Amino acid sequence: MKTFETVRVDLGDRGYDIHIGSGLLDRAGELMQPMMKGARALIVTDAQVAPLYLERVERSMAAAGLTPMHTVVPAGEPTKDFAHLEALLDAMLGAKAERGTMVVALGGGVIGDLTGFAASILLRGVDFIQIPTTLLAQVDSSVGGKTGINTRHGKNLVGAFHQPRLVLADTAVLDTLPRRQVLAGYAEVVKYGLIDDEPFFTWLESNAQRLIDGDSEARAHAVAVSCQAKARIVSADEREGGVRALLNLGHTFGHALEAETGFSDAMLHGEAVAIGMVMAFRLSAEMGLAPAADVERIIRHFQAVGLPFALPGGRLWEVPRLIAHMAGDKKVKDGKVTFVMARGIGQSFLTRDVPEASLATMLAEMAAGR
Ligand SMILES: NC(=O)c1ccc[n+]([C@@H]2O[C@H](COP(=O)([O-])OP(=O)(O)OC[C@H]3O[C@@H](n4cnc5c(N)ncnc54)[C@H](O)[C@@H]3O)[C@@H](O)[C@H]2O)c1
Ligand SMILES: [Zn+2]
Repeated sequence: MKTFETVRVDLGDRGYDIHIGSGLLDRAGELMQPMMKGARALIVTDAQVAPLYLERVERSMAAAGLTPMHTVVPAGEPTKDFAHLEALLDAMLGAKAERGTMVVALGGGVIGDLTGFAASILLRGVDFIQIPTTLLAQVDSSVGGKTGINTRHGKNLVGAFHQPRLVLADTAVLDTLPRRQVLAGYAEVVKYGLIDDEPFFTWLESNAQRLIDGDSEARAHAVAVSCQAKARIVSADEREGGVRALLNLGHTFGHALEAETGFSDAMLHGEAVAIGMVMAFRLSAEMGLAPAADVERIIRHFQAVGLPFALPGGRLWEVPRLIAHMAGDKKVKDGKVTFVMARGIGQSFLTRDVPEASLATMLAEMAAGR
């Protein structure tokens, strides 16, 4: 019986399905069965997720006649580095991984990015499956094939495009996710409405609270719409030559804030992106591109659900430093930053023509708490 939704990512022979629904963990074995080249599967998860969900996934795989093995790595962003990548590859080879072994990423974006990258280079590339367990991973990082690690030069600077063979998003696992993490992931959900789907933003205005509080129908709908949006954009531009950059709405600003706060728990990625999206719309309004009423509408919504929309006080935000971080972003081309700006909610576009004076004015106002 099919009790879940499926979104297809159309990439020819690298295309794949994203299944979304409550309770999918218990069907993982059956659903991954058609993608298997052999019986062996190597699950990679983190120390936080392992005690919660590893056994259920292994049980379901064994019931489908598969042979699951697992490796558990520490939870958290610091795990996405060269040292843990090396240890993980060693563990995979130690477990006698073969070309036909399926690698399974069970966890949030950290596990998906690290495991996907390891799969892309293990034995010159093996297949992998994503079982995302955070809202952020379900609506964003598990879809689209970007994998990678951080280096001392910055985040996500070493990696590969490696599409998964399947994504299983079990919305029930979000019940154990701390509320702050749910909200941070929700920022990426709102992003899809702001990029090019005003009706979805309107739906979120009435349904976001249900979704955040745990309503499984609202969650499944929001995850499905988000995955459809990302799938559509990725299918049109897999390697980010053009429209895929729209997915960076709020991110150039957000990355600058994350860099200033040391990529720490002081500001989660989704929190930085929420403030960054407000910045993108304020700048668009100040340049006369977008109606000021849309900025107000976004801020009202963020306020209602509990997402940040202003720069937190208690620290000095220096405008030149923020601008320097933006200029160092990897999306820079020929020294010019590509901005995602908007003509209104659901009408975002790419431009490299943002006067530095307008940018500085907007940042100075935000830094002054205005
Ligand atoms: N590849 C991409 O396209 C892409 C896109 C966006 C973000 N990312 C990356 O994703 C990462 C952030 O992902 P994240 O926010 O999922 O962080 P994460 O993987 O660190 O997960 C957040 C925390 O939640 C815990 N956790 C995970 N699932 C849980 C559950 N169901 N119940 C309880 N706890 C759970 C984790 O152990 C961790 O402590 C960043 O490294 C970012 O660069 C990648
Ligand atoms: Zn993001």
